[in-house]
Amino acid sequence: MTAQKDIDQWTEAEARDELARLAALLAAANEAYHRRDAPDLSDADYDALKRRNADLEARFPALKRSDSPSDQVGGALGEGFGKIRHEVRMLSLENAFEDGDVADFDGRVRSYLNLATPLAYTAEPKIDGLSLSLRYEHGQLVQAATRGDGETGENVTDNARTIADIPQRLTGAPSVLEVRGEVYMSHADFAALNARQAAAGGKTFANPRNAAAGSLRQLDATITAARPLRFFAYAWGALSEPLAETQSGAIQRLAELGFETNPLTRLCHSPAEMLAHYKGIEAQRATLGYDIDGVVYKVDDLSLQSRLGFRATTPRWAIAHKFPAELAWTRLLAIDIQVGRTGAISPVARLQPVTVGGVVVSNATLHNEDYILGRDSKGEAIRDGKDIRVGDWVQVYRAGDVIPKIADVDLSQRPLDAVPYAFPHSCPECQSPAEREEGDSIRRCTGGLICPAQAVERLKHFVSRAAFDIEGLGAKQIEMFFADDLLPVREPADIFTLASRDADNLLQKLKNREGFGDRSVTNLWAAIDDKRRIPLARLIFALGMRHVGEVAAQDLARHYQSWDALAAAVDLSRPAALAHRAADAAEAEERARAAQENRRPKVKEAREAAIAALAVLPEATAAWQELITGDGIGPVLALSLSDALANRDERASINRLIAHLTVLPPEARATSSPVAGLTVVFTGTLEKMTRAEAKARAESLGAKVAGSVSAKTDILVAGPGAGSKAKDAERLGVKMIDEDAWLALISGA
Ligand code: IVH
Repeated sequence: MTAQKDIDQWTEAEARDELARLAALLAAANEAYHRRDAPDLSDADYDALKRRNADLEARFPALKRSDSPSDQVGGALGEGFGKIRHEVRMLSLENAFEDGDVADFDGRVRSYLNLATPLAYTAEPKIDGLSLSLRYEHGQLVQAATRGDGETGENVTDNARTIADIPQRLTGAPSVLEVRGEVYMSHADFAALNARQAAAGGKTFANPRNAAAGSLRQLDATITAARPLRFFAYAWGALSEPLAETQSGAIQRLAELGFETNPLTRLCHSPAEMLAHYKGIEAQRATLGYDIDGVVYKVDDLSLQSRLGFRATTPRWAIAHKFPAELAWTRLLAIDIQVGRTGAISPVARLQPVTVGGVVVSNATLHNEDYILGRDSKGEAIRDGKDIRVGDWVQVYRAGDVIPKIADVDLSQRPLDAVPYAFPHSCPECQSPAEREEGDSIRRCTGGLICPAQAVERLKHFVSRAAFDIEGLGAKQIEMFFADDLLPVREPADIFTLASRDADNLLQKLKNREGFGDRSVTNLWAAIDDKRRIPLARLIFALGMRHVGEVAAQDLARHYQSWDALAAAVDLSRPAALAHRAADAAEAEERARAAQENRRPKVKEAREAAIAALAVLPEATAAWQELITGDGIGPVLALSLSDALANRDERASINRLIAHLTVLPPEARATSSPVAGLTVVFTGTLEKMTRAEAKARAESLGAKVAGSVSAKTDILVAGPGAGSKAKDAERLGVKMIDEDAWLALISGA
């Protein structure tokens, strides 16, 4: 914030204007924040505005507005839309940015399917709006839901009914049909809406996407009805019977049922045709009359789509080819340092606000100290090696939803007094040393839990959507409680004692505070209680351990089934984990020495000697092997998990948390499948499918695919050329079948 006149010297008129400005700014910030797609203010700036508003209101109580931001801290608590769990998850798309990515995508698809022949793909514009799932039963529109987190969306049925492009009734449709597509607003309608809003003194929108989102997500459907929203259908969810055999056929069918489908959808037969259509769409982009941000390619054959299946959050059979990033030049005003959940010290560029592709950008990421200096992790030059200095004239770019970055620096505009940026070597929040590990480009605060920035970021992560997802307890409320002396939340366990501590507080109850009321507090306590039962995977992810992401947390949960089993395995494997670390160090040392002595490094010997010196018990080694052979769990992740659980303070904090929880084991993915819960190993040559497909298919049916045969293996699927694994299976008495028998086993599943 720039320097401001002392509040005591304000006139009433000035104060009134400023309160109006603050109300608008904060409302916009709240909207951006709560939609969770584009928070446009830093938390510190938001809080500063909020304080300024409160100070002005205290000085001029008569001027307090009816829509005062002070009354809206917890205003969103418990309000809003009902939740709808999607019968079929709503996924996102993998992005591609380069022309070459298109051929790579086609190559990946065909190699996954082991197809030498060309494949057909649909290519269509990627509409820049928000996705919506419409459920029809016996031809009647019964439900409309936003994407939400992909698993659960918001019930916006009443609002969707007001959109002219969305049919209320269908004839000749499957008895259950979920149509998915994009809600958007045309450029002309967006301009007219903003003009109306401005004339009425209301809020205007930054771009058509925000306008569409803000209009659909209105609690009062009559407001949605007055907004000119449109809808393109491009996909489907649950179905009682297939729509067609191909993607293009299915889209055709949706068009026949009365949906708007995009007229620029084409069937292409090679990456070259796909690219040509991409260029064609790009050339028309400015005159289409609505925003698009790329082209989506989808495998046309639906039986191949189903063989290809999904990764964690994206289908293997589709990709979004984005249009190039948008660019703008502006001044770098300051470099701020933020401390993340795992202590990472991240520099952030504060920019003179500039519009980049319709969005005002005032912050950009600077990644790390090497990036500011102009070299990447391999020591190679970025921006031709130009460093970034405060005061520089910089080129900002943003591609789609990604955080803006700095593409270039104009050295001819560099102020004479600009000095190279001195990256801090201590944490700006807790003054602990900030260190860089060998080979890591990130400097980290070593303060751990004593660092308030790490503690608060961990709490924010803990309540985030993929973690505990507590309604009404978002980043803002966490900051408030973290700083609160009466009702503090300093670690996750404190969240679960909030209600009882509030009841014990004689001085001031939360419900009497500004921004809270009876109802919002009751709702908050209920939302917290609701999460006392928590799936194991969410708990593991919520702990925010470095390297332990959502997918790894799910893998760990599936493998160990309970927190106690996981913790016991990690404890048991601790000596082996330390031996692994010692072996890494010995290897690095041996490599360095060998380079100096100009000989080949004896890596294996060095590692083995380091491990032998620690005399690790076989049980520990076995537990470590089991931990690191889990899908997607390598030694780096396992070591981080091991360190976290071996840290006494951290472990105590986790135990305090778990005392409040009932941890639920993961749901078996597909209990009805004949292979659910079984551990399967594939070996030898598979002829009808690739290894990747076999693994993905088995996992989607609830089986666990392991890399080696052990006493825990249930089935070995052996193709021609099976070697040592077949022998192991024989020795251990593991059931062995060939590929055809496996396919017969899972057919119909
Ligand atoms: S297909 C399983 N087609 O892009 C994937 N998505 O980045 C289903 N989108 O969430 C999506 N235009 O909101 C598909 N022609 C199109 C699209 C499209 C826009 C959006 C959609 C999705 C997001 C993924």
